[in-house]
Amino acid sequence: MDKHVLVTGGAGYIGSHACKALRAVGYVPVTYDSFVTGWRDAVKFGPLEEGDLADRARLDEVFARWQPVAVMHFAALSLVGESMKDPGKYWRANVLSSLTLIEAAVAAGCLDFVFSSTCATYGDQDGVVLDETTRQMPINAYGGSKRAIEDMLRDFGASHGLRSVIFRYFNVAGGDPEAEVGEFHRPETHLIPLMLDAIDGRRPALTVFGSDYATPDGTCIRDYVHVSDLVDAHVLGLKWLEAGKPSEVFCLGTGKGFSVREVIAQSRAVTNRDVPILEGERRPGDAAVLVSGSTKAVSTLGWTPKRAELATMIADAWRWHQSGHYEK
Ligand code: UFG
Repeated sequence: MDKHVLVTGGAGYIGSHACKALRAVGYVPVTYDSFVTGWRDAVKFGPLEEGDLADRARLDEVFARWQPVAVMHFAALSLVGESMKDPGKYWRANVLSSLTLIEAAVAAGCLDFVFSSTCATYGDQDGVVLDETTRQMPINAYGGSKRAIEDMLRDFGASHGLRSVIFRYFNVAGGDPEAEVGEFHRPETHLIPLMLDAIDGRRPALTVFGSDYATPDGTCIRDYVHVSDLVDAHVLGLKWLEAGKPSEVFCLGTGKGFSVREVIAQSRAVTNRDVPILEGERRPGDAAVLVSGSTKAVSTLGWTPKRAELATMIADAWRWHQSGHYEK
């Protein structure tokens, strides 16, 4: 019998890669997506159920129809800057919708839950290397909303036996090496796709957001993790829950930090093209340094990142960028 997994946000960047990874190991990913930020061409690896997470009746229908063995919850608004300007939008779309989803899952008896959280829940901790035990002190509404959902999962675990694997992502980058799916946001705000746009002339230049941070070259440092490696960890998280193991939190990063200027230099090397640059102001809500110090996913889940080099992530993103899919 097919094992269905309900993938919220399955039409988005990370969700679509997760659907491909699930399909590859024999699960049937059922995408639940409202298409507020996702796109239809990305739903390639299993059935689609269009719907809003705030719509409890629709969720009940979908749980009854597919009887999923687990939920993978990716759907969220995820722009730090926007969350600073319009926090209500983030608390409503992320927190209230997740509550509706969790209640629907519990009511349907679907008690295995894999959640997409973020290192933005840590806030700015003066360059401290972050792991699962680091205190969470978000400095933007996006990070705050994700931390609240983590709390919710723990409470429903205690009261209703919901078991969760929470993944706190560092900076997800790259794309499917076969370029079936890739990174695409409307509007685009992420460093690597914006830089590739500047390289191939779709945008006039990349603006560097702040060069007066307390880092060696003055620009922000991030830990980039390949999306295909990231979703591999999700499959391991799902199997962890299926094996009856307890709720856990895992950071997903490579443990190596790169400044914005280092990412630019690496992109020049990978594409062999120039990157037109403008120097800009700091972006509100940005932490100076976010780098994972965790090896827990490797030691506990058996996660083995295969595309951990920044050059590989940029090369995969560049292939997708040039593939024409981007136009759709
Ligand atoms: N940056 C620029 N210019 C740009 C875009 C980004 O200099 O045009 C800089 C940012 O200031 C930051 C770095 O590049 O220092 C990376 O920025 P991204 O926007 O690509 O990603 P973030 O570091 O902001 O990532 C955060 C959270 C993630 C979350 C993501 C979603 O850490 O957990 O936002 O937008 F998923």
